[in-house]
Amino acid sequence: MTALTVKDLNPASGAEVSGLEPKQPLDEETIRVLRDLFDKRGALVFRNLDIDESFQRYLVYTLIGEEPPATAGPDVDGEPPPSFFVSNREEGGGAPYGRLLYHCDAMWAERPQPVISLYGVQVEQPSVPTMFINMGYGWDTLPEHLRTSVEGLQARHGFDHSYPNRGGDENVIDSYYEEPRSTVTPVVHHHPRTGRTLLYVSQQATIEILGLSPEDNEETLEVLFDHLYNSPGVLRHEWQEGDLVVWDNRLLQHARGTVDLEGPARTLRKVVGPMFLSEAERVRPTFSKVSGT
Ligand SMILES: [Fe+2]
Repeated sequence: MTALTVKDLNPASGAEVSGLEPKQPLDEETIRVLRDLFDKRGALVFRNLDIDESFQRYLVYTLIGEEPPATAGPDVDGEPPPSFFVSNREEGGGAPYGRLLYHCDAMWAERPQPVISLYGVQVEQPSVPTMFINMGYGWDTLPEHLRTSVEGLQARHGFDHSYPNRGGDENVIDSYYEEPRSTVTPVVHHHPRTGRTLLYVSQQATIEILGLSPEDNEETLEVLFDHLYNSPGVLRHEWQEGDLVVWDNRLLQHARGTVDLEGPARTLRKVVGPMFLSEAERVRPTFSKVSGT
């Protein structure tokens, strides 16, 4: 087995793992250790890795016990699909500028993707960090009176063309989708793989808690967001080239500060898996606002 060194990053989430040899397949003991760590800590951080997209995909699938696809699958022309980058430099890069409020990817879907990874391909300094919070920790630390007030409630998450982006400012990127989409879940949700109890509302994507008056809705969400986001459990990842961060999209929410198109290059290769969304649901948004202009 590879000799792994593990360091917890904060009380709620994150483990930095050193000593991983990025080869396929990994040995069984390494896989067991990494899977266990992933389920406990929700995010694994590797520094100074030299990996290609194939290893990134292999690790993403392996961490949840799924068989990785040989490739991401051919597109309509039979060509392998191009890599996807969150980038302020690459043409067609995702979220190329602006700020992103806390969310799970595809929180509007019945089955959002279980795992997300980003790999630092080009990261000039100073780089804008990515922040994570843990919805399981959010529930574990929620005061009893607030637990009682939200138990049994249901919330709707998604967008009517654009996300609600509660509490955002003019720097928040405005993602526009042709088709409105939303889904309803319990506010006190459960993790589909581990069963862990989650406080499941987000600043970017939660539209409303059902059955509350508009005033009670705003007040309740504000209190829950304050609890989730002003917490010792916020994990802040400062990007360097060669960083790989893999996280559980059903346990953690992520956010980032304002990226400028003209600022330091920030190109992160994104690999997720597996996807349960239909082709129609995979349509990417257009971005309609440029920060600072
Ligand atoms: Fe995201």
